[in-house]
Amino acid sequence: MKKQVGIEALAIAVPRRYVDIEDLARARGVDPAKFTAGLGAKEMAVADPGEDSVSLAATAAHRLIQRNGVDPSRVGMLVVGTETGVDHSKAVASHVQGLLKLPRTMRTFDTQHACYGGTAGLMAATEWIASGAAAGRSAIVVCSDIARYGLNTAGEPTQGGGAVALLVSEQPDLLALDIGLNGVCSMDVYDFWRPLGRREAVVDGHYSISCYLDALSGAYRGWRERALAHEVVRWGDSLPGEQLARILYHVPFCKMARKAHTQLRLCDLEDAPGGQDSTPAAREEAAKSQASYEAQVASSLGLNARIGNVYTASMYLALAGLLHGEGAALAGKRVGLLSYGSGCVAEFYSGVVGEGAARRMAQADVEEVLAKRERVSMEEYERIMRLASDAPEPLTPAPGEFRLAEIRDHRRIYAAG
Ligand code: HMG
Repeated sequence: MKKQVGIEALAIAVPRRYVDIEDLARARGVDPAKFTAGLGAKEMAVADPGEDSVSLAATAAHRLIQRNGVDPSRVGMLVVGTETGVDHSKAVASHVQGLLKLPRTMRTFDTQHACYGGTAGLMAATEWIASGAAAGRSAIVVCSDIARYGLNTAGEPTQGGGAVALLVSEQPDLLALDIGLNGVCSMDVYDFWRPLGRREAVVDGHYSISCYLDALSGAYRGWRERALAHEVVRWGDSLPGEQLARILYHVPFCKMARKAHTQLRLCDLEDAPGGQDSTPAAREEAAKSQASYEAQVASSLGLNARIGNVYTASMYLALAGLLHGEGAALAGKRVGLLSYGSGCVAEFYSGVVGEGAARRMAQADVEEVLAKRERVSMEEYERIMRLASDAPEPLTPAPGEFRLAEIRDHRRIYAAG
């Protein structure tokens, strides 16, 4: 029997504070409906300098290990996907290993390619296990980021922060990946970037949306070609994309998932046998199907709407939201996942939800993690945003959490709660 490899369990970590997106709109003199209906946002996580990519990654990984009874001596690889690392050389993964006192026998490294870094890490871990090189050991892949565009920018309502830690193994209770079906599309574009030394991203917002949709089309078509060849999907009464129970997208803001879904449907409608017989306008109208969006996408966006963009972690936050709500109902069903990283690369892959998904998600307790957050005023949000990145506030971390306490002689010192 072919070896099953995929995600066994997950855990999330979020900054302790958030703003209500309508408060942000009012403060900027914008109709709140632009941010709620136009972008699909409700709340936005606000990370202070003590909550960097290391502390959030360590908190999520610690939670993953504790809540799932992971034996660290059975973990042979620790990867952190991030585009907001804290050092040009020292890996976030090394910090996490040290803070969690993990064994010295594991391979540790970071993966970076904008929001795609986490998926790069997941695929490295999955293929390492599937190849047999892991010799039965598991991997931990943590996606951790702070999305930051700055005050009074167009990107401001699409900020956020947090981390999702994934346990990858031969016991994929959450999601068994369809190894070998992945479709990829990459291009050299300047849609979103962050030159060295800058805290805020530079973005060509509307162009970034078109790059995402273009790369999605290539990645999805690549996956579909292999999935058709392996008879995982077929041209028939329904479109290939409609044969996936749910589709998760990279979610820089929730409305993007809707645009992405329309684009994916358009690929199917254009390529379907006889598809070119209809007019482009008719295909575009059919691609926008509200019913399809509601059935395949909407239920995954609950956490994203409350946290905002988390770069590498965004799609995995959608996975957490989906399985938190529908883990039991989706057991045995195939879902599609589209990861996008600016610059750019997109990868479309699929997997089958495991029988243990609901049980594993109960351990993740995502509602409890979000319920502990504090809503802050616009004044407090702006104060936090103006804090220097190397001057963390002296706050005590909650039990099981980590915070940057100080930077001394260029060394980052973290406090554990
Ligand atoms: P904007 O230009 O201020 O907004 O910035 P807009 O004018 O495009 O309006 C946004 C939506 O609100 C539109 O909906 C409007 O119609 C609607 P759409 O037409 O697109 O469906 N709207 C309203 N709706 C209801 N009531 C109203 C109203 N007014 C307007 N009164 C933008 C939007 C997303 C460009 C900006 O926030 C931005 O630059 N964000 C950052 C970039 C980004 O998120 N790009 C996404 C694709 S790239 C990506 O995902 C990679 C990334 O995660 C980074 C990485 O890979 O590392 C970003």
